[in-house]
Amino acid sequence: MTELKWWQTAVFYQIYPRSFADGNDDGIGDFKGITQKLDYLASLGVDALWLSPHFPSPNWDCGYDISDYCNVAPEYGTLEDFKTFLAESHKRNLRVILDLVLNHTSDEHPWFVESRSSRDNPKADWYVWMDTPPNNWQSCFDGEAWTYSPERDQYYYHYFMKQQPDLNWHNPEVKKAMWDAIRFWLDMGVDGYRLDALGTIFEDPALTPHTVPMNLAELRRFSDLAKTPEEIKLKDQYWHDMFKNQWGQAGVHELMKELRAILDEYDGDRMLVGEDDNIDYMGNGRDELHLVFNFPLMRTELITPEHIRKNQVERLTKLETLSAEKGWPCNTLGNHDTSRLHTAFGDKLYDSQLARLHAALILTLKGTPFLYNGEEIGMTDYMLTDISQVKDTMGAWYYHTIVTGMGVHPEEAMLRTAKMTRDKNRTPMQWSRQPNAGFSSMDVKTWLPINPNYKEGVNVKDQEHNPGSLLRYYRHLIRVRKDSSALQKGAYIPLKTTTEDYFAFLRQSQEQTVLVILNYSGKISELDLTSEKEFKNANLKILFSSAERRAGKFPPKFKVGPFEVFIAEVIRE
Ligand code: NOJ
Repeated sequence: MTELKWWQTAVFYQIYPRSFADGNDDGIGDFKGITQKLDYLASLGVDALWLSPHFPSPNWDCGYDISDYCNVAPEYGTLEDFKTFLAESHKRNLRVILDLVLNHTSDEHPWFVESRSSRDNPKADWYVWMDTPPNNWQSCFDGEAWTYSPERDQYYYHYFMKQQPDLNWHNPEVKKAMWDAIRFWLDMGVDGYRLDALGTIFEDPALTPHTVPMNLAELRRFSDLAKTPEEIKLKDQYWHDMFKNQWGQAGVHELMKELRAILDEYDGDRMLVGEDDNIDYMGNGRDELHLVFNFPLMRTELITPEHIRKNQVERLTKLETLSAEKGWPCNTLGNHDTSRLHTAFGDKLYDSQLARLHAALILTLKGTPFLYNGEEIGMTDYMLTDISQVKDTMGAWYYHTIVTGMGVHPEEAMLRTAKMTRDKNRTPMQWSRQPNAGFSSMDVKTWLPINPNYKEGVNVKDQEHNPGSLLRYYRHLIRVRKDSSALQKGAYIPLKTTTEDYFAFLRQSQEQTVLVILNYSGKISELDLTSEKEFKNANLKILFSSAERRAGKFPPKFKVGPFEVFIAEVIRE
């Protein structure tokens, strides 16, 4: 087997800079804070950090509206602070990848300011301008996708908020400017990029209108109220139809090839991971993205053995078919855009047990795992109760639109907004049971409220000291993964593929075979491995047992307890 690259064996950890650690007590996370926490991250055992945008931004979309691609947001520190952070990370063998937002800039970016200033300035064609809105396209965040600009007496296109105008990637100067920005950070030594919303870079050149009989606000409201299976199916169809002409269009592959060629000029196996589940963006396996996320795994109400097996077959089969080199999987169960794992996949009864199973799943499946900060201590979604607290502007937009435009009662609107906004999963990291969870000092007003459950053990410090904590569990599992060649690079072989209660599989490398059993039910499950050839004359050496099993003989038939996680090496006698 060829040696794996660092990004194939690494466990990635996503840092949301605004919420990770506040080093200067202004209520907002920053590089000083992150740097102080690097020892914590190293001790957790992760190998690479993905930083959500840290660039200057007016923050209409929490940093995803960038006004300078070659600098650091003042609230996060200076370029020097970033360099210190990078050097300190590398010292601890932690790689660092940045967020790369190609589709759009902030409307305050000097490129856009110039572009909108007249119809004939040098950057006039850097964004997508039209004399009149050519169609009924919607922005996926705030209503119409075409916004009027009086300076040019024209409309510009934006897939996201109106403060996030889409760049015109058909213009070679745009490409050059963006590639220069990319090199700026690569030259500094960053290890790669996570590519934001790459599917939205190009639009249907025919500008074909959507056919959904409602606008964005109406569709959101329709989705909120959809209850019957027919309504749910219809709203899914509508979401797809509303935006299908605005993403996934031709042109992205060529662009990814160019970008990959730039990364490949650098030493150190710099890497690209796309915010997309489309394996086609990995090109022939060598010429586009290194990884795309396995989002279908997490796009489900419930994670069940059946769902995982189906997902794995589909993904792994497709990854095998890339023409030059097989694709490598990449699994995640949450990020800054989605409900927290603990909340999203809990059942309100066994949330903690399920969170542990999901952690074990993501750390034992074949492929590179991405964890989201706070997952390791079981942070949960936090529902805001007052519109003045909402920072995710797409949420605020929705609230005001349904209250003023549709007459929805403010209380109901707030409940809906709290659920749909991404603020719920972006609250500050909970470091201790000190006031403000140790994120900022006591009297500081943090940028989003702290989830009060930090007082109930959902914080790093308490969990450090508790051998049975989730944090210690993550650390242990990450170590088990690191010490196992099968878990890092082995093939995936499903076992007992029709059982509904538990998910059992083997990971097999040249050196090692590992059995993983995740009992997804609250019942004892009896496992019979008699017919599996791998278990002929074999014994099991326990690598990890949530039930604290000790080494011993395991007959091919044995019982796994409710929600048990069992990981063992298969030793042939
Ligand atoms: C995807 C990012 O993850 C999300 O947070 C952001 O709002 C959009 N892309 C727009 O950049």
